[in-house]
Amino acid sequence: MAETINGMKRTCMCTELGEQDAGKKVTLMGWCHKCRDLGGLTFITLRDRTGEIQLVITPENTEEIRTKAADVRSEDVLAVNGTVQLRSAPNDKMKTGKIEIAVDELRILSESETPPFYIEEDDNANEQLRLKYRYLDLRRPNMQRNLMTRHKIAKSARDYFDEKGFIEIETPMLGKSTPEGARDYLVPSRVKQGSFFALPQSPQIYKQLLMLAGYDRYMQIAKCFRDEDLRADRQPEFTQIDLEMSFVDCDDVMNVTEGFVAKVFKDVLNIEIEQPIRRITWQEAMDNYGSDKPDLRFDMKLKDITDAVKDIDFVVFKSAVEAGGTVRCVTVPGGASFSRKEIDALGEVCKTYKAKGMAWLVAGGEQPRGSFLKFLKPEDIVNIKAAAGAGDDDLICIVADKNSVVWAALGALRIAAAEKLGLIKKDDFKLCWVTEFPMFEYSEEEGRYMAMHHPFTMPMDEDLDFLESDQGRVRSKAYDIVLNGCELGGGSIRIHDHDLQMRIFKLLGFTEESAEEQFGFLLSAFKYGVPPHGGLAIGLDRMVMLMGGCQSIRDVIAFPKVQNSSDLMTEAPSPVADKQLEELGIKVSIENE
Ligand code: AMO
Repeated sequence: MAETINGMKRTCMCTELGEQDAGKKVTLMGWCHKCRDLGGLTFITLRDRTGEIQLVITPENTEEIRTKAADVRSEDVLAVNGTVQLRSAPNDKMKTGKIEIAVDELRILSESETPPFYIEEDDNANEQLRLKYRYLDLRRPNMQRNLMTRHKIAKSARDYFDEKGFIEIETPMLGKSTPEGARDYLVPSRVKQGSFFALPQSPQIYKQLLMLAGYDRYMQIAKCFRDEDLRADRQPEFTQIDLEMSFVDCDDVMNVTEGFVAKVFKDVLNIEIEQPIRRITWQEAMDNYGSDKPDLRFDMKLKDITDAVKDIDFVVFKSAVEAGGTVRCVTVPGGASFSRKEIDALGEVCKTYKAKGMAWLVAGGEQPRGSFLKFLKPEDIVNIKAAAGAGDDDLICIVADKNSVVWAALGALRIAAAEKLGLIKKDDFKLCWVTEFPMFEYSEEEGRYMAMHHPFTMPMDEDLDFLESDQGRVRSKAYDIVLNGCELGGGSIRIHDHDLQMRIFKLLGFTEESAEEQFGFLLSAFKYGVPPHGGLAIGLDRMVMLMGGCQSIRDVIAFPKVQNSSDLMTEAPSPVADKQLEELGIKVSIENE
């Protein structure tokens, strides 16, 4: 039978004690991490949220305590009264390794079955099992550290934005579909059967309405829901540090965000971030790094070698250029020593991004090597080498295709090669802004232009005249903040003019009726005096993941979803009772297994 606390009061946490406390009487509570019975002498490692401490039970203890101690099993919950004493054999690996608690009283407050895996720092257990028993997994010190980092970042955000005059305002979870581009999670209405709320993909529309309502500076740590395919940095339910400001232009939002990022890095990691954070236009990012979220921890820029190869009689290059594409390369330093197998592996990376293949060349030395040497004259090799900026020991990796394919393939190759060469340092943090995004991107699937950010984004003033005539060249007042090759946050200056907003909706394929149906409330609100405004949202989960050095966003969310968007612990989503469906007026047409 489990014992009760019955008047016992915890005096401190395990790791708050040190050598200076020797001789002090304390009461501790926590979990048994490990129990070792050395015949008469029992050592128990007690663990709480702060860490561990050793308890010792000796032959001098009463028979009752010794018997109880011998019975303690891992993950039992214990309460002890005891005295702090110096350890005869200190343990350098433990924060409290110089001391231990000589136990005077021991209570087993709750017994534990044998857990399905050890609660250890390293997660050797398989992730499916850890997520099924997430409450045990969360006892692991690294998970506790991650959630503590998350708390610190959230606190730092609230403090910073409060200081800058922002107020936190909650916006509804049950709302109308917002156009962030993913699928909505829908919630059926019981009262208005056949109608649905959408869970917010972001508080975008609400925060704009708050600006219109005169709140001037808004922030919220907001839950967002997007029914999209999961990746290591994506969850269907995630959190944004969301903000919006009135009477501002791009620089104002970017400056306030930079101040926040600098404060978080200082508060949480004691790292000084260099300000201003480097700004790169979208075009430069694509041309140099093949990505709108460039990893600046290493160089290895893409080079356009179209001019150097335009006269070479190689059909792969020729047909790409004739179709309006380009020929570009990444020069891998020291790559001349790569084996064929290693070079082929880089080619495979390119193919994953729809490149038909990768041509390669080692131009140095007496004997050049390469996959298309037979098409090259000696001067071609010299020209390519110069255009690529390659040395004798380098490997030139070339992709020819339409720009979107070349960028994606070489952007991925650049990262794969840097990883292979060990150029990416885990504790290095490189931030940049990417600005001047195209306003629209062409969707082959939909056969029309779509909003690259969202339909409320303001086009750049100098491109307004091309809205109807040349959509492809219109840039927007949108900006992303990028950390180590990951999109940490994004935002824009918004349209605050009813007529311009209608023009954009029209370009995006909305008729007047469909725009009215989806955004009628916003469009009519826009008739009542809208301050120029803009904002941004930072992915809190991604920020914790990157700052905490985690590989997956799941490691920084207390109860995350897995690949198929389900929760392994609660087994949600799950079928519901027929009566619930009846109340909602819903018939399910598929059979549940
Ligand atoms: P955006 O869609 O770019 O902008 O999202 C902002 C940031 O939120 C994070 N994020 C995600 N994190 C985890 N899982 C996901 N599925 C996920 N999707 C996005 C990213 C991203 O940079 N309303 C606009 C912001 C604005 O314009 O003010 C918005 O939501 O870190």
